Amino acid sequence: MAKIRWKRVLARTALALLLIGCSEKSKNPMSPEDGTSPTGLDPFAQNAKLGRGVNLGNALEAPNEGDWDVTIKSEYFDLIKSAGFNSVRIPIRWSAHASTSAPYVIATSFLQRVDWVIAQAFARQLAVVINIHHYDEIMIEPAAHKARFLAIWTQLAAHYKNQPGDLFFELLNEPNSLLASELWNQYLQEAITTIRQTNPGRILIVGPANWYNIGSLKTLTIPADDKSLIVAVHYYNPFQFTHQGAEWVPGSEAWLGTRWTGTLAERQAIQRDFSEAASWGAANNRPLNIGEFGAYSKADMSSRALWTEFVARTAETNGMSWHYWEFIAGFGVYNSMTNNWNYPLLNALIPKTSPALTVASSFRLPP
Ligand code: GLC
Repeated sequence: MAKIRWKRVLARTALALLLIGCSEKSKNPMSPEDGTSPTGLDPFAQNAKLGRGVNLGNALEAPNEGDWDVTIKSEYFDLIKSAGFNSVRIPIRWSAHASTSAPYVIATSFLQRVDWVIAQAFARQLAVVINIHHYDEIMIEPAAHKARFLAIWTQLAAHYKNQPGDLFFELLNEPNSLLASELWNQYLQEAITTIRQTNPGRILIVGPANWYNIGSLKTLTIPADDKSLIVAVHYYNPFQFTHQGAEWVPGSEAWLGTRWTGTLAERQAIQRDFSEAASWGAANNRPLNIGEFGAYSKADMSSRALWTEFVARTAETNGMSWHYWEFIAGFGVYNSMTNNWNYPLLNALIPKTSPALTVASSFRLPP
């Protein structure tokens, strides 16, 4: 008996020491030692820290993690870091884990799971974007979901307020349908005010209605006096190429076989879209992020690699950070079957002999 009890004591002590060790290790070297909410961050410098990133898609954005065959593992962060990425964007379906009546409490176990994911990224010095993803209900009935949307941010902002400045909050993925620009511009203002109560200087990411369409930037209105913002758009043009055969896009079967070979006209179309966005960024003095871009696995690999490389370099030469969509599912830069990178895509994203990353403050205008 005594022997068993001793074993237990020893095991508990060992576990405690291990946990202390882990929490020491997972401490982010960038974190403010006093554990206060970050202030004084330069949004352009923070955008450069996002640099080249990847979305951990299809995991926490599924109704439940694992439902879409992706469960985030610790080793993913080692892979992502050692491949040369600077950040991860974590799409999260909070709406599936918060109660449906006031005060709309987020389930503790789910919050802890996200805490673990953030800590894993920080332990590898990867910057992290968390968002509200797939809040489909608010797109259809905005007014009925506004209070819940704001309550989710009140809770997240309070919970994460002392996290380092390399944790970015992105307000809402791809507002669409009835959450159209006029309404979205109001909601985003209120969400920013809500978050600022606990996070006065954290960098927030916000994108335009109409699915973050790059052409919809001109419809976005953001508070002029809030300098701690990054503006995001998503890029999937030409859509018939990037979404060919996508099961969730009706009619996309007919697009199978569409190639992208980088003809002059194809390249110019992308360059035009990006230079228009860059002009908006310069005119409004805001750093820009391409929060998603990618071509689905039903397209041929050679076209995917060419398109991916061209979009990534075009973003960089326009001073934008980016997050490839996505790590290990249908667009995956990593192949879960072979447990290896899809090298044509990885090399397109992080060229082995590339010049230093150009995402920077090149678009900054005098204040
Ligand atoms: C959006 C959707 C995501 C989809 C991706 C590409 O982010 O939320 O589910 O996979 O776009 O279509």
